Amino acid sequence: MLFNTAVEKAVWESDNEWSVYKTSTQDTEAGKSTAYRISCRYLISAVGQLHTAHVPEIPGLKEYEGKVMHTANWDEDERLEGRRVAVIGNGATGVQIVPEVASRAKHLTVFQRSPSWIIPRNSQALPKIQQILYQYVPAARRYYRSHILKDQDARHGMVVNERDREMGAQFSKDFLTHQLPLDPDLQARLTPSYPFGCKRVLLSDDFYPAISQAHVALETRPIERITKHGVQIENAELPFDLLIFATGFHAQSFLSHIEILGKSRQKICSDRRHGLRAHQGVAVEDLPNFAMLYGPNTNLSHVSVMLVIEAQARYISAMVRVVQQAAKVCSSGLGICPKPQAVADYNDALQAWLKKTVFAEPGCRSWYRAEDGVVTNNWPGTAIQYQNSLSVLNWDDYDMVGSEVSSLMKRGAQSLGGPLENPLASTRLGWMYGF
Ligand SMILES: Cc1cc2nc3c(=O)[nH]c(=O)nc-3n(C[C@H](O)[C@H](O)[C@H](O)COP(=O)(O)OP(=O)(O)OC[C@H]3O[C@@H](n4cnc5c(N)ncnc54)[C@H](O)[C@@H]3O)c2cc1C
Ligand SMILES: NC(=O)c1ccc[n+]([C@@H]2O[C@H](COP(=O)([O-])OP(=O)(O)OC[C@H]3O[C@@H](n4cnc5c(N)ncnc54)[C@H](OP(=O)(O)O)[C@@H]3O)[C@@H](O)[C@H]2O)c1
Repeated sequence: MLFNTAVEKAVWESDNEWSVYKTSTQDTEAGKSTAYRISCRYLISAVGQLHTAHVPEIPGLKEYEGKVMHTANWDEDERLEGRRVAVIGNGATGVQIVPEVASRAKHLTVFQRSPSWIIPRNSQALPKIQQILYQYVPAARRYYRSHILKDQDARHGMVVNERDREMGAQFSKDFLTHQLPLDPDLQARLTPSYPFGCKRVLLSDDFYPAISQAHVALETRPIERITKHGVQIENAELPFDLLIFATGFHAQSFLSHIEILGKSRQKICSDRRHGLRAHQGVAVEDLPNFAMLYGPNTNLSHVSVMLVIEAQARYISAMVRVVQQAAKVCSSGLGICPKPQAVADYNDALQAWLKKTVFAEPGCRSWYRAEDGVVTNNWPGTAIQYQNSLSVLNWDDYDMVGSEVSSLMKRGAQSLGGPLENPLASTRLGWMYGF
């Protein structure tokens, strides 16, 4: 484990190995200099989709004399008590922090560019008896997990079904009216005009009550610029001690912060204009013995991403095993790279499917899409569908290079086993645990 270390570059060498160049911000390992190279047979990227904070380029920001924070780079020493705070953005993060910030700040203004669809979180502690059961009976824990997956995966209906979206929107509107019954103006400003499910649907019991407090203001006029002391909007300059950007991430940048040179020695290009494409969301053209966890088109907006990453870990492990075996047999090893045609076919089918989802609707703007409009981050189906698609590794989709290890080369489809969760079993046995 190398701590405080950033990978900056990786190069595929002719002897079927990766050279990985890193910089350490701290000398944590005896004998290691701050910049160094290691080599490996297989390289896995686990940098996630949400690792580069997005702070919009608002005119005047550099001249602002107060404190600026992005939610992903929170300064724990910064106190909120007694201060005039602005939160810019009200996506999943903004909605989560606003009640907390409101409980401490002297005054809070929330700058909202577009409202979010919000439904109740209904967060509850598990009864003690259930906690004990899950602690000591692993099968019960597994079935409960299956139950959660089945329940949450059913919400995928909003992605592909207009009727589900209409029902979701009505549920959310009713919740808003229930929480803010006496404020039709606030209700109107907090009601989205884009389809339910286009962006992440948020779960919160305390955002609307927080917004309705006397010392909290919802500002929907566009920000014109940042001044030395605050924010300029139409006909007014609002003064603040602290600006908090809850403005999300450069989610389409995938690997852009690392210089990755594959077989052709061309830098892998992933940016917010075009994003990146991969085979099964895992393997990238031109990059042998390389895989991504939580890669392109593997984000889910209705259920935990962990379900995706677990399936990917199983799929990637099968390739790593073959590469490891080859390295034992001969020094030149084995290179496994997705065939360009397989990547193209997979992505053509994926994009055709995505066109039928709410993510691709013309009026829908979100971090799931690159600037060219292509949906680059989300998977169109359910978690179970993704897990099933990765439960088989079709070796015919891959080129294998390494003539001396031909006995290890694989062809055809290899079954990797099904999802860890078993929704069918949860349906049958759920009653035993009172689900
Ligand atoms: C505020 C927030 C809340 C979320 N909540 C949920 C949730 O409840 N459920 C859910 O399913 N998903 C949630 N997500 C989505 C979340 O990003 C993923 O589920 C999860 O973090 C993905 O794990 P990961 O390991 O792939 O990526 P990450 O957790 O993002 O980890 C990436 C790691 O790579 C490191 N890294 C990046 N570049 C380099 C480099 N060049 N060299 C070395 N290291 C590097 C980063 O420092 C980081 O440690 C949330 C995201 C955010 C921002
Ligand atoms: N599970 C959880 O509890 C949880 C919590 C937090 C985050 N997450 C994950 O992380 C993802 C990212 O969430 P996030 O809230 O950090 O980012 P986000 O969903 O992308 O939200 C960014 C917010 O900033 C606003 N914004 C962006 N640029 C702006 C600008 N120039 N001027 C004004 N407003 C601007 C956006 O407005 P527009 O809507 O108008 O673009 C939006 O309200 C989520 O979708 C989710 O997957 C999960």
